[in-house]
Amino acid sequence: MIIVKTAEHIRKVLADYSPFDPRVAFVPTMGALHEGHLALVAAAREMAPVVVTSIFVNPTQFNDPSDFARYPKSLEQDILMLEAAGTDLLFLPEVSTMYPKGTDQLPVYPLGRLEQLLEGHYRPGHFQGVCQVVHRLLDMVQPGLLVMGQKDYQQCMVVRQLIQHTGLAVQLQIQPTIRENDGLAMSSRNRRLSPQQRQQAVVLFSTLQYLARNARRLPLLTLEAEAAQQLLDAGFGTVDYATIADAHTLEPVSDPAPDQPVVALAAAWLGEVRLIDNLPVP
Ligand code: PAF
Repeated sequence: MIIVKTAEHIRKVLADYSPFDPRVAFVPTMGALHEGHLALVAAAREMAPVVVTSIFVNPTQFNDPSDFARYPKSLEQDILMLEAAGTDLLFLPEVSTMYPKGTDQLPVYPLGRLEQLLEGHYRPGHFQGVCQVVHRLLDMVQPGLLVMGQKDYQQCMVVRQLIQHTGLAVQLQIQPTIRENDGLAMSSRNRRLSPQQRQQAVVLFSTLQYLARNARRLPLLTLEAEAAQQLLDAGFGTVDYATIADAHTLEPVSDPAPDQPVVALAAAWLGEVRLIDNLPVP
């Protein structure tokens, strides 16, 4: 595995590949890697002969500075894991490489309702930050395939919109969420859960299963109230949302047409840790 820190160095290593060559697959990460990330690298390996991974904890997507400060870091272990998983090229940029002119005057992307709904509402500015960093990474890495996890469902929709907006010739490949044996979605933030919170956390998944099972049977308001209560009963402190939304627009859906794709989504707090997850409705 080759480790590089600049776009120039990436271009040298990938000199045999044209920009946005489908033989180059890219997995962007913020490090603190787990099996979910490794599954993305494995999927990328299946899709393309060259796999590029990046680790960059992007300051512009943290609306809460203390979340940024506490974001887990495990670079040495991450490097070993990526090497074993078959990453060919690891891009490890500095903040000054990503944002040479600082972060005050970065582009603003037209995300419409997507940045007001759900995560957008609770994390103002977050999706602008995601677009800023993903756009910059795509400009630098120039991959043909971009491999991302469905765990961050709304982020995938936002990145799809970013790709349409920029017209970049990259294809988004969304991969299923990887779960622990009890159903908890893998997440770097799980590391911050106490043993007791770790046990409580599984209720996020069972609540999503409940939502998905009943999405086409019960009114949205009843479902939302029941789902929130299940989370509170399990020990979650605050429920930001537990809802059913259109799978493409993420607008709330109370009475989905039989052929309308919908998804159950939830975000809730266990102590100081905010967990999010989702489950497509069959
Ligand atoms: O999902 C993440 O880890 C981040 O939001 C991403 C896509 C790497 C951008 O910083």
